[in-house]
Amino acid sequence: MGKVGFVVAVGIATVTCVVAAAVVGRRVRSRRKWMRVVGVLKELEQACQTPLSRLRQVVDAMAVEMHAGLASEGGSKLKMLLTYVDKLPNGSEKGIYYALDLGGTNFRILRVQLEGRRSSTIRHDVERMPVPQHLMTGTSKDLFDFIVASLRQFVEKEEAKDSPASTRELGFTFSFPVKQTSLNSGLLMKWTKGFSINDMVGKDVCECLQQALSRNGLDMHVAALVNDTVGTLALGHYNDEDTVAAVIIGTGTNACYFERADAIIKAQGLPTTSGGMVVNMEWGNFWSSHLPRTSYDIELDAQSPNPNDQGFEKMISGMYLGEIVRRVILRMSLESDIFGPVSPSLCEAFILRTPLMAAMHEDDSPDLNVVARALNDVLGIRDVPLKARKIVVNVCDVVSRRAARLAAAGIVGILKKIGRDGTGGIAGGRLKGGGSSSSSRSRRTVVTIEGGLYVEYRMFREYLHEAVAEILGEEFSPHVVLKVTEDGSGIGAALIAASYSSSESVDT
Ligand code: BGC
Repeated sequence: MGKVGFVVAVGIATVTCVVAAAVVGRRVRSRRKWMRVVGVLKELEQACQTPLSRLRQVVDAMAVEMHAGLASEGGSKLKMLLTYVDKLPNGSEKGIYYALDLGGTNFRILRVQLEGRRSSTIRHDVERMPVPQHLMTGTSKDLFDFIVASLRQFVEKEEAKDSPASTRELGFTFSFPVKQTSLNSGLLMKWTKGFSINDMVGKDVCECLQQALSRNGLDMHVAALVNDTVGTLALGHYNDEDTVAAVIIGTGTNACYFERADAIIKAQGLPTTSGGMVVNMEWGNFWSSHLPRTSYDIELDAQSPNPNDQGFEKMISGMYLGEIVRRVILRMSLESDIFGPVSPSLCEAFILRTPLMAAMHEDDSPDLNVVARALNDVLGIRDVPLKARKIVVNVCDVVSRRAARLAAAGIVGILKKIGRDGTGGIAGGRLKGGGSSSSSRSRRTVVTIEGGLYVEYRMFREYLHEAVAEILGEEFSPHVVLKVTEDGSGIGAALIAASYSSSESVDT
């Protein structure tokens, strides 16, 4: 090889080395970035862990907090609110009743026809309407005038096809924390789920509705004010008398159950015809140091309109799960370029809604088309490689699994409190009707569940069922049945209105 040839060869070798080094360098950097994304996922998995031992701690904490909330006003973050529902519908209710169900992004109006005998399908007409966003943060007058205008149209339409009721009685489902003073009066304590109508806090919500009815010339009497959980329990119990508790897992989350009057220490002397009363737990506000909290939860809470409130709800309900997932993807995007440059949409709070998260989680196409489309259309992240799409599915899985397992622990916590978890519980197995702890061990126990997240998110539902069975154990779990109720919150309010107006109804 001549001198020139040698120089050329050295030159080529040098260039090759530089190029190879650059390629290797890029690969190393990209691998390092990928490892960072994997690291974010691993950290999330670690922080969201809910092994059985932890779930048991949450069960115990729930039962203990229930006791504390029943013992004194403000004794716990669980408000354990009185509902003045001391009897549940029993099938003897008769007549036509209306219900208005307000508690989330939609409101529902129902007309329910009761035949005076228990029937598995109650005849009812229902109309669902979205609550316009601006009314969720406006004035109470605007909100109620809007609702009553829709109610009026509904009544006119219904009565044109059917004979009008002699008196129009209404069950009002209002799904926010309310301190009730009777069956049909109660003061709004605070808003949740993105509502914020300041002039209404501290006001009697029934009075607000009754005034709007008169203002708009609609002759209707608000006979009962109920939380959505209470309506659901009413319908659940109407359909199946073994139903002891109701849970809502939708935009928000909450539970209620039938409690013995003597266990409600903060309201001793409360006159009840049945020796018990339904208690609205407002479990969305439950808190315990055993809850697996992540930095994402802390930031979400701090930036929410109700910081330090509704901690359990912010880990479980439909309003928040998509938002937690968005925060994790944003962190991944900031730590690496695997999702391309950080998309402005990805920085927008609450842009990723939970139904879309569920669709990504349940995407079973081989190349995760649904995930790709959601990332592209909603979060503005294009051309995401398959391995990154898989990571997104993993994030959805971790967030929904934690939520479902915590909700399951909450349910078993209630069963423990009333001695229906198979262990004798901290109530010592003393049940309404005098059941002993040994008979309570084998009694069938039904918990009815309603809410879009539970009903429409299959993976969430499966994780929840699996966790309830895991906590209760193989031997006892067949005694506990989880049942879906449809439109229970509204139909149940009509049933309660009927049960308290009807002279024929009998105490439970
Ligand atoms: C409210 C509860 C309601 C639950 C489910 C929570 O945000 O505080 O009153 O039952 O959502 O709708």
